[in-house]
Amino acid sequence: MKRLNLISLIVLAAAFLMAMGIDLNNLLNYANQTKPVYITRDNTPPGNTITNAGATLGRVLFYDKALSLNGTIACASCHQQAFAFGDTARLSKGLTGGLTGRHSMRLVNARFGAELKFFWDERAASLEDQTSRPIQDLVEMGFSGTSGQPGIDSLIRRMEKIDYYPRLFHFVFGDSMISEARIQRALGQFIRSMQSFDSKFDAGRAQVTNINDPFPNYTAQENQGKNIFLAPPNAGGMGCQGCHRAPEFDIDPATLNNGVIADAQSPATLDLTNTRSPSLRDLVNPQGMLNGPMMHNGNFTSIRQVLNHYNQIPVNPANTALDPRVGGPNGMGQNLGRTPQELDAVEAFLRTLSGVAIYSDVRWSDPFDSNGNLTVLPLPPTAVGEMLTQPSLGIYPNPAKDYIQLSIPVTSDYEVSIFTTEGKQVFSQWVTTHAQLNISPLPTGLLLLTVQDKTNGYKWVFRVMHQE
Ligand code: HEC
Ligand code: HEC
Repeated sequence: MKRLNLISLIVLAAAFLMAMGIDLNNLLNYANQTKPVYITRDNTPPGNTITNAGATLGRVLFYDKALSLNGTIACASCHQQAFAFGDTARLSKGLTGGLTGRHSMRLVNARFGAELKFFWDERAASLEDQTSRPIQDLVEMGFSGTSGQPGIDSLIRRMEKIDYYPRLFHFVFGDSMISEARIQRALGQFIRSMQSFDSKFDAGRAQVTNINDPFPNYTAQENQGKNIFLAPPNAGGMGCQGCHRAPEFDIDPATLNNGVIADAQSPATLDLTNTRSPSLRDLVNPQGMLNGPMMHNGNFTSIRQVLNHYNQIPVNPANTALDPRVGGPNGMGQNLGRTPQELDAVEAFLRTLSGVAIYSDVRWSDPFDSNGNLTVLPLPPTAVGEMLTQPSLGIYPNPAKDYIQLSIPVTSDYEVSIFTTEGKQVFSQWVTTHAQLNISPLPTGLLLLTVQDKTNGYKWVFRVMHQE
């Protein structure tokens, strides 16, 4: 009986810590995710295939605000899981409130495309090249090395002093050296792991031999919309497939601009350079809400506005880079004349391209707790040993009613935090000596108490039974 309790405690503690930390002994599966057989395009470079360890480090980097100069912004501030790793703001706020030059891009399924270059204007030669640019951006994360800001070397010095980074880099790369190239590799792996193939589209595609066959799980309207999306304009369609190629819905690398040419920050200025689009999957979330405004300037706030644009692209002779597939020379935008009923059908089809799991899967979620701390399991050997053999070591009395006395073998200041078994933090305090803590205001029942040593970052976990 006693043994059973102990085992359930350990399982509980592990499950609880996993939800908010990372466990190097039980890495989540990033490397061997299944994808549909019809998904063939892949921009993974030969030297940086996804590993569970690399993507786990990438996850920490992606969510770590310490990667911005003033500690307020992480990649995830502008690429939010709830919005398929995009942003609902038209332009995103950087570290001191300044706005980004363009709308943030959804990162979901970024791996599955033939175009190797990244950003709306394709200025990054690869995903790896892309990932360290926001860190070095004056507005976004601030290690620009210009205008009085330090450069990325200064960030690397900072990371060397953050307890978990030397340990994680050692775990992934075999030694604890931190470098821009290693940061790029880990972030590239994490972003490529963000995949979404549990959509209605995928369920239908799996049931037919050819994408042009009607999908049995679609409504008549959705099948009509699919036909219009796939067919070229001279065959009753809208030619979307020419550039956003199903089933990946990635962008054709040879694409020029699509007639959306107002600069994101100063609309009177033309910006003809936007020739890349994120995958058209997950434009909306599972509830059907848009994951953010669309296009590089975020000017379209509904799918119908997008379709109206392609149905009649405004003529602008100054647009010398309009893609011939959507118009003629001298910015002569196409005028397709599709009916409102047909546009409704295309919208219904686009809404079938959204997945479900990507929005909440723990793999891609924030591993930091509400105080911005990261727990990296396994705990140091002593702590695990103590937890296994003497789970109540150092806490008297236990069970307790009002006060507990802590006696813990730490070398310096340590932080005591107490959590409910649901993971809600109910107590946090720095203590320097053997401390007496008043737990009477805390919820009763099983509580998990963590002790973090300030000097080496080690964490111990104890259980405390709080009696009524
Ligand atoms: C302040 C907001 C902000 C932050 C922080 C930010 N991004 Fe972005 N991200 C953007 C914007 C805006 C774009 C589009 C910019 C452009 O094309 O000019 C973008 C584009 C991207 C793209 C290109 C996607 C594609 O399909 O081409 C990737 C990848 C990306 N970000 C990853 C990251 C990573 C990794 C981090 C953290 C190191 C990060 N971002 C931090 C706003 C942000
Ligand atoms: C000539 C190639 C081309 C064709 C054809 C085309 N697009 Fe696009 N599409 C683009 C480019 C390039 C962008 C990015 C433009 C920008 O942001 O300025 C884009 C962006 C988009 C976006 C915004 C994506 C986002 O994440 O914000 C949507 C939605 C979209 N297209 C849907 C469609 C639909 C639906 C069709 C058919 C009616 C279509 N496109 C036809 C090239 C094309």
